[in-house]
Amino acid sequence: YENVSILQTASSIPKKVVTNDDLAKMMDTSDEWISKRTGIKQRHVVTEQSTSDLCVDVSQKLLRQANLPAKRIDLIIVATMSPDYLTPSVSAMVQGKIGADNAAAFDINSACSGFAYGLKIAKQMLTADKSKYALLIGGETLSKLVNWQDRSTAVLFGDGAAGVLLTNAYSNSAGILADDLQTKGRLGHYLTAGYLANKSPFYQAAPTDSANKYFLMNGRQVYKFATENVPGSIRTALRKADLQTSDVDYFVLHQANSRIVERIARDLGVSIAKFPINIQEYGNTAAASEPILLDELVKKKIIRRGNIIVLSGFGGGLTIGTVVLKF
Ligand code: ACO
Repeated sequence: YENVSILQTASSIPKKVVTNDDLAKMMDTSDEWISKRTGIKQRHVVTEQSTSDLCVDVSQKLLRQANLPAKRIDLIIVATMSPDYLTPSVSAMVQGKIGADNAAAFDINSACSGFAYGLKIAKQMLTADKSKYALLIGGETLSKLVNWQDRSTAVLFGDGAAGVLLTNAYSNSAGILADDLQTKGRLGHYLTAGYLANKSPFYQAAPTDSANKYFLMNGRQVYKFATENVPGSIRTALRKADLQTSDVDYFVLHQANSRIVERIARDLGVSIAKFPINIQEYGNTAAASEPILLDELVKKKIIRRGNIIVLSGFGGGLTIGTVVLKF
């Protein structure tokens, strides 16, 4: 049981689509500005569902696809920065709703890097153990953290969830080959959301700059952080796996801005054709972004068994998570 492999991928996307033109009716923006600066044309937003609803849907799809009873699941990890509650965790809600009575469940929050961090945690928890199954899901309803009056952030984010069924049960060569996880907490103030105000009668401190429930982002600084650090993280992870960029079939990057993806491809000297982009349809869905893209590519049979894939997320924290895997 030396490695874990991805058995299934699935996603759950809210039906409601909000186009750039829809947003231009609500705030001083335009399809031209949004498309040109970010590559985004539309995003999906929830009208009734919560993060846990989307994650339950993903889990049920994964189990159905694998024809696996929920009771066989040993571990459920949800990566999210927009949970329903602080407690219970989204993963515990999923565990209860799908009847995965034998699974331990917990959430992780490393924003847009959450899926990559989750892959590493799941691998560590599943290997060197008896045969086991895990669900790893990235799920977000970022629409509840967006200030819909603030055009500088409202145009960027979307809702959705996607995930994978992982197992250590097969001794084939597929699996997670290497990773590089980084956190630069000193830069954390460049992207904040979901500040929890302390309304206790005993609490007297003045609110800080980040005392805001909604997204506050220094877009320029986050852009700089991503373009300066992600190529190095990808090179480090590939070096650990004893691979070169030319060995990689696809780079599944966090979809925050198509220009960031293009810059990273150029920096690595790799054709943009190896960097699939779907931000035009979903916007930035944080922890859900890489698994949504992964599921899309698997369902379209673009990613196939045996492919070498680099997954890399970057964002809030600030964090970077890169994983090299053989699919
Ligand atoms: N529509 C029209 N104009 C706008 C809009 C809008 N939606 N938003 C901002 N503008 C204006 C600004 O007011 C500014 O006007 P000014 O020049 O008159 O002051 C001008 O457009 C330029 O604004 P900038 O913020 O400098 O634009 P920039 O080119 O940096 O693009 C963007 C902004 C798209 C946010 C970019 O910086 C970016 O993608 N940054 C990275 C974000 C990111 O990667 N986040 C990932 C983490 S997300 C997570 O972890 C959840």
